[in-house]
Amino acid sequence: MKELDLFLDKLWSQYTSYTPSAEKISKLFGEEVINDHIAFRTFNLSHCNIAKQKEFLGQFGYKFGEDYFFEQKRLKAIHLENEDPTYPKIFLSELMLEDFSDELNSVIKQISPYFDIENKENLFLGSRSWDIDYEIYSKLAEESEYASWLYVWGFCPNHFTVSINHLERYSDVQEVNEMIKANGYILNSSGGEIKGSQNDLLEQSSTMADKMEVTFQSGSESVPSCYYEFAKRYADQSGNLYQGFVAKSADKIFESTNK
Ligand code: NI
Repeated sequence: MKELDLFLDKLWSQYTSYTPSAEKISKLFGEEVINDHIAFRTFNLSHCNIAKQKEFLGQFGYKFGEDYFFEQKRLKAIHLENEDPTYPKIFLSELMLEDFSDELNSVIKQISPYFDIENKENLFLGSRSWDIDYEIYSKLAEESEYASWLYVWGFCPNHFTVSINHLERYSDVQEVNEMIKANGYILNSSGGEIKGSQNDLLEQSSTMADKMEVTFQSGSESVPSCYYEFAKRYADQSGNLYQGFVAKSADKIFESTNK
């Protein structure tokens, strides 16, 4: 599994380069942190959609788990599980472009020739290879925060998620949340700090995204980058730890990158 380890290391170092708080928080646990999942965003274009991403991840032993639909945000998503369960799940989502305005679609059409994804690894690590305009960014954000985030950050991890089940010093989301807040970080409180419940078999929380200075054509601006997530899973009736995701919780978590 050396190749997958290498790939995951690259993802973590790219993610923490624009989410420095995640690296700092991961050290606050004072023990080894195991990831529950890593999440990505993309557009539903034939050359970069979640099917293409899934295809690439197959070589590392990742297989389809379940699919999801986010009605309001107009997203389709799937999660993948590794044949070796010690590896993180992967959550892939894509924006349904046909449900958005001509203006939004023409922006994506203008940047898509610059997608640096000939090497399929760049569907996850390619970041941004096009120039960005702050006015266009703001306009996109009015229609879809998700689209505006992709416009600025491109192909890269959106978040890593700590598996609370694997922590020895913390047993639930509440305890983790208190520790994070005591260290001065702000949690996403959209729909409450804890999303989901034991009944849903999954509880999650997340920080609000870091703010990073980004160079736009008109100058530099501070914009949200990425956030860090925390998840605790519960066993289902058959005694197996639930491995899926809860759409109504994930819907709120997506808002961690709101301005
Ligand atoms: Ni997540």
